[in-house]
Amino acid sequence: MQDMMKMFGDAYGKGPAVVSRAPGRLEILGNHTDYNEGFVLSAAVDRATEFALSPVDGKDCEIRDFRDGSVRNFNLDSVDQPKPGDWANYVKGMICEIRKRGHDVGGFNAAILSTIPLSAGMSSSAALEISAGFAFAKAFGIELPKEEWARVGQGVENNYMGLKSGLLDQFSSIFGQKDSLIFCDFRSVSVERTVRMPEGYSFVVANSMVKHNLVDSEYNARRRSCERAAGILAGRHPEVKTLRDVSTDMIEDAKGSLDNDDYLKALHVVGENERVLKAIEMIEKGDVQGFGNLLYESQESSRVNFANSCREIDCLIELSRSVPGCIGARLSGGGFGGITIHLVKDSDTEQYRARLDTAYKLQTGLETSTLACSIGSGAAVVYAC
Ligand code: GLA
Repeated sequence: MQDMMKMFGDAYGKGPAVVSRAPGRLEILGNHTDYNEGFVLSAAVDRATEFALSPVDGKDCEIRDFRDGSVRNFNLDSVDQPKPGDWANYVKGMICEIRKRGHDVGGFNAAILSTIPLSAGMSSSAALEISAGFAFAKAFGIELPKEEWARVGQGVENNYMGLKSGLLDQFSSIFGQKDSLIFCDFRSVSVERTVRMPEGYSFVVANSMVKHNLVDSEYNARRRSCERAAGILAGRHPEVKTLRDVSTDMIEDAKGSLDNDDYLKALHVVGENERVLKAIEMIEKGDVQGFGNLLYESQESSRVNFANSCREIDCLIELSRSVPGCIGARLSGGGFGGITIHLVKDSDTEQYRARLDTAYKLQTGLETSTLACSIGSGAAVVYAC
């Protein structure tokens, strides 16, 4: 935060009134389950976006991104039109979503600093939304429950950016707990419980370096497949509202009446729900290898059923099986590129990263950037004068 205070003071002539911080997230297990009202095991990472702000008179706003020196200026009367590809959309979209809830934001000077890699699958966009939201809340006296802030951020993605995503990213950024995984239920929209990370293990994050842009991707098509499958299953089982209410056996029974593509997508989601519950049991009884195997099963289902892996991710996962030290690995997040997570013993982490980097370069010609990720706590206002 010291860097932010200094840079903000240098840029605007005096320090900020508020600084908030929101972390990126890792999806540990439970892929594409959130918008099907299902289960996810996730974590906030120790990398975050800081959003500093000082209110100003009038309706003109300025945001500086201290990472690359870019600056955006806009007027509060013209925030309702997103500009394609502009990072300021996430902040402007928050203002629109806040207004829908009967609150408003005044003029401000703001700045952003972040240690979350961009467009890689650690939810840098959700971290920007939530850090901005928490700063607005403090500076302009907006009171909303924390779950609602997650919906505000999701509203930006759904309504402003056109991505029909679920609540996972914003929710994990807000509710993450240091050194623990959070078990999220997206029917009740709550953290059911926290699960301690297995002692002596952590996640290595390896970026496939395939830029995933979910807005342009097949994400929305996947969601439609899931909803179609749930609709057909509801016709056979009146208790079914979403894929959350469906078991693997029910899908197999209905296979003949489902479009084959929809059948495979639904199989993935239902399998993921089941794997999340199994993983919690395994972690809690100390079966780390069992947990690792579930990560591999999830990846295989992404590759074969949900078709949201890609060649480079498949390569990283294959390498994880041959480079010594990995207990289990899978893609994390929407897919179609982005990051993979690798469960590794703490003592093996450095060697594993170095070997994975080298092997990936040899196989693909791409430089991966592996990170050893610690699990951090959720979003908060970290300074208010
Ligand atoms: C992206 C979306 C989330 C979730 C994951 C897949 O991160 O933003 O809502 O659907 O993909 O699990």
